[in-house]
Amino acid sequence: MPLTTYEQVRPWARSIKARTGIGPKAGVMPPWYVEHNIGIQQYKNDPSLSELEIALIAQWADSGAPLGDKADLPPAREFADDKKWIIGTPDPIVKLPEITVKAAAPDWWGEIPPPPVGLTEDRYVAALEIKGFNDVPSGGSGRATVGGRYVFHHMIWSTDKGGGEGVNTPWPVHEVGRNADTFDPRAGRLLRTGSNIVTDSVHLHSNGRDTKGHLEIGFKLHPKDYKPTLRPSASRGLGKGVDISIRPMEANQ
Ligand code: HEM
Repeated sequence: MPLTTYEQVRPWARSIKARTGIGPKAGVMPPWYVEHNIGIQQYKNDPSLSELEIALIAQWADSGAPLGDKADLPPAREFADDKKWIIGTPDPIVKLPEITVKAAAPDWWGEIPPPPVGLTEDRYVAALEIKGFNDVPSGGSGRATVGGRYVFHHMIWSTDKGGGEGVNTPWPVHEVGRNADTFDPRAGRLLRTGSNIVTDSVHLHSNGRDTKGHLEIGFKLHPKDYKPTLRPSASRGLGKGVDISIRPMEANQ
């Protein structure tokens, strides 16, 4: 459910009180399961609510979830234009094949034809962003969720030179709503000339409306003379890689 206006939020007041107050564990809203008494506490972009905020929400729900003084309303949140590339104008942008997903189509997993990346020389990648484009009107397909706008649920993919050379580079998985990935500046990942985008795991999910759409992969390249000083991660999940160590046989980390 969207929670951007009072009218949308009001019917959920009791549920919101319950969900914001059950942390830290699965199901808490906003989702954030980090325990507050153990280990690392300072995270970038931590969306969790303070004790005070949680108490205020509960008190508001218990008092009948009033609108309050309209003059105190904050300005409506403005969302970024989803056509805009967060990583700056990428080069190259690889357009994947156009696919039609029928309104009542069951979910589909499979391969799509492998488009060429089109580079004329090997280059290192600084950042990567994937966007879904389709013919859904800006009002959406009728479903008020992110899934009401996009039909590509996810894609697990690599770049591959083909021809039996066995040079296959995995890249971070595409998921609907996923942000761009910026690689560690010391560890750019190599995008080879003559490679294609290959995937055997595209998951299509109908949004309830006949929809024609495609994905575009935007690569932001390092300058031609760039050389990595660290070995790039081959992780599909995390562009930035992981630098948290958990020591064995030691409690309360
Ligand atoms: C303060 C902010 C948020 C509030 C008040 C809130 C509120 C809620 C409530 C009341 C439900 C239960 C709906 C039901 O009973 O059917 C819910 C479910 C859910 N919310 Fe949130 N939400 C918040 C932020 C977020 C964010 C940031 C995400 C995603 C990143 C998210 C993802 C989900 C998901 C996936 C569910 C369904 C799964 C489940 O039931 O555990 N929510 N939320």
